[in-house]
Order: sequence, then C-alpha cells, then structure tokens
Amino acid sequence: MSTDPLLSSMLARRSVSPRRLGPPGPSAAQLALMVDAALRAPDHGRLLPWRLIDFGDAQRAGLAQLFEDEKRRRTPDATAQDIERARAHATQTPTMLAFVVRPQPDAAVPLHEQWLAAGAALGQLVLAAHATGFGAIVLSGERCQDDILRQALGIAPGETLAGFVSIGTLIASPPPAPHVDRERVLSDWKP
Ligand SMILES: Cc1cc2nc3c(=O)[nH]c(=O)nc-3n(C[C@H](O)[C@H](O)[C@H](O)COP(=O)(O)O)c2cc1C
Repeated sequence: MSTDPLLSSMLARRSVSPRRLGPPGPSAAQLALMVDAALRAPDHGRLLPWRLIDFGDAQRAGLAQLFEDEKRRRTPDATAQDIERARAHATQTPTMLAFVVRPQPDAAVPLHEQWLAAGAALGQLVLAAHATGFGAIVLSGERCQDDILRQALGIAPGETLAGFVSIGTLIASPPPAPHVDRERVLSDWKP
C-alpha cells in the first residue's frame, strides 16, 4: 500500500451500500469540498457537462414518495417490502444527491468526451467522500429512466439522470474489494 495519503485513499476507496451508512453526513463545508473536488476532474472545454441536485432533510419525504410512486408504476404487484426498500433509498443516508449529465450537443467537444468528463467528476466526488472519511455509493436503477420521476426532479430533455449518490458515515464495514488484475486493462503496444 502506498504511503502517499492521496494514493492510499484512491487505492482503498470502495462503494458502501446505503444500508451500511448512517449519520452524521458531511457538513455543508465538507460537501462543498467534495463538489469542488468533482469540479477538478478533467473536463475538455470546461463545459461542466454534469450537475448535482441536493435533497435536503425537508425534501426526503417528497423524494421517498416519488420513489414509491415510480416503483408502483413499474411493478404493480410490488410487495410492501419492495415499496419500503424503494422509499428507504430516498431516506436512509444523511446526504442524497442526484447526478445529472447534461452534455452540450452543439459544442466542439465530442459527446463521448463530455460523458467521460462527467464520469470523471462523479469518480472524484465519491473519492472525495471516501477521502473525507465518509462512505458513498452511486446507484441508478430503472427509476432513472422514469419520465414522471425525471420531470418531478426537473431533469430537462437532453439531460440524463445518471444516478443517486448516497453519502454517510459507515455503520458497518463493506465486504472487501475484489482484486482485479491490472493486466486486464494494461498492455504493452506490440507493433
Ligand atoms: C452511474 C452509476 C450507476 C450505478 N448504478 C448502480 C446500480 O443501480 N446498482 C448497483 O448495484 N451498482 C450500481 N453502480 C455501481 C456501484 O456504484 C459500485 O461502483 C459497484 O458496486 C462497484 O463497487 P466499488 O465502487 O466498490 O468497486 C453504479 C455506478 C455508476 C457509476
């Protein structure tokens, strides 16, 4: 393991399920720094092809109702447990953000580069949460495609609701990260 604190943090980061997260969440100042870290991701043309929606405490009941309504639309025979699970996603972690990708189709920067920039920002956001001592996870699910939910959250046509970022304090340890051989992604050029 590296002795460099930043690299150590990067090497140790892993996603933490919402059920393993509890209060306290990041303070407003800590959350602001996480957003600043996301803003330092590489971004061709500095187009900011992404944005965040923060669901404060007062908004969680409304968000839970939207998640419940979406679940009932998608799965008419949903059980009470299914509904409770959908609602819990909206309420169980101290911080809940939506990550929205908003590429600019007319920009000189190709769309795939804008998507990469958005992904890089999302990665920095969750890494910053981890580096600050919190656990975080990005979860999308089919609800992100739901037009009624999208509209209720103010997602414009042309924007993508990429997922929800849950952040909180670890109340239980996540399982160890699986090892991935770096040879799966790194190879020498052999002309
Ligand atoms: C945009 C996005 C959406 C995701 N949505 C889901 C999801 O709906 N369900 C899920 O199990 N994992 C989802 N993931 C993956 C998890 O966030 C996480 O990265 C994965 O479980 C691997 O864990 P790790 O980050 O610790 O390696 C999503 C990741 C991203 C980047």
